[in-house]
Amino acid sequence: MIKVLGIETSCDETAAAVVTDARDILSNEVLSQLDEHRPYGGVVPEVAARAHLDAIGSIISNAMDKSDTSYADLDAVAATGGPGLIGGVLVGVMTAKAIASVHKIPFIAVNHLEGHALTVRLTGDDQGNTIDFPYLLLLVSGGHCQLLIVEGPGQYKRLGTTIDDALGEAFDKSAKMMGLGYPGGPALEKFAKSGDPDRFDLPRPLRKRPGCDFSFSGLKTKVRQQIENFPPGPVTDQDKSDLSASFQKAAGDVLVDRCSNAIAMFRARHPAGNTLVVAGGVAANLELRRRLTELAGQHNLRLIAPPVHLCTDNAAMIAWAGIERLKLGQTDPMDFRPRPRWPLDPDAPRATGAGIKA
Ligand code: KG4
Ligand code: ZN
Repeated sequence: MIKVLGIETSCDETAAAVVTDARDILSNEVLSQLDEHRPYGGVVPEVAARAHLDAIGSIISNAMDKSDTSYADLDAVAATGGPGLIGGVLVGVMTAKAIASVHKIPFIAVNHLEGHALTVRLTGDDQGNTIDFPYLLLLVSGGHCQLLIVEGPGQYKRLGTTIDDALGEAFDKSAKMMGLGYPGGPALEKFAKSGDPDRFDLPRPLRKRPGCDFSFSGLKTKVRQQIENFPPGPVTDQDKSDLSASFQKAAGDVLVDRCSNAIAMFRARHPAGNTLVVAGGVAANLELRRRLTELAGQHNLRLIAPPVHLCTDNAAMIAWAGIERLKLGQTDPMDFRPRPRWPLDPDAPRATGAGIKA
């Protein structure tokens, strides 16, 4: 059996997990830095890096203890090597390299996006069965919004991406403008539950256009204008709920439209392909999942999503991507340079090229 320690530090979660190739998550420790960033209403990179440094030692010890694993039992250590906030990525990569060299085990630099992309292969379908390649993937997080055909580890065909904001960013910024609390995405979903999705007329950028690209900045701007147009005086909770529900419906309409085009492209390349996967932090949104499940059904596809707690950043997904890489014999050298940017496509160099020396 293969056992890998995974480490995730690319944004505002310090996380460590031990996972096996039998798809068992032996431990999964996640420490969120919500309290550190709440006063600023968003993630402050320098604050995040320091918090990772403070927490990483105890998070890894906890993950090892809870999994009842000793370092000698590990087959490799995998850490997020990018993309992400570079101070945090450096903390994770340096720690993983130190563990790898002391315990003489391979080090694997995992692309954070590959972690999200392969999570469903760890968690499986409703019956626990493995998800095979290929599948169509909608990757929606705080920093990314992409449609990809996933044909294997490292084998991605990108069909479209956002030309401005990521969807999670649009959720977070809209929530902040409405004063819904921090973090914004989950707060907006909660307000939307008791709102009228048809009260506000918000744009659906790029809808009915060809291709699979996204755009969300116009939607975000319209939310701001709507708030400015409210009559003077305090905005009621009902107003906030209605605007949240209208935003979520517009975002859902855009996702459904873009995914429809992507399904046609996926089917042209893989006529027998039957799986649409949604992953990344925004995939935790149950209303968006419902819309995508409906769309998948209309096209004779099934929708697969990781459990909600494995949609947002975690280290189990990094350990799992490490296992998939290790099985292919793909490990990384000790001079791997953490990458603030790291596109998820097969032509991107893995171990060389731009990066920060760790
Ligand atoms: O994948 P993730 O944890 O970090 C990145 O890699 O970016 O995604 C975080 C993003 C944030 O923008 C957050 O607001 C959003 O996912 N998010 C949600 C929900 N839960 C998290 N957006 C909408 N509805 C949710 N329930
Ligand atoms: Zn993420």
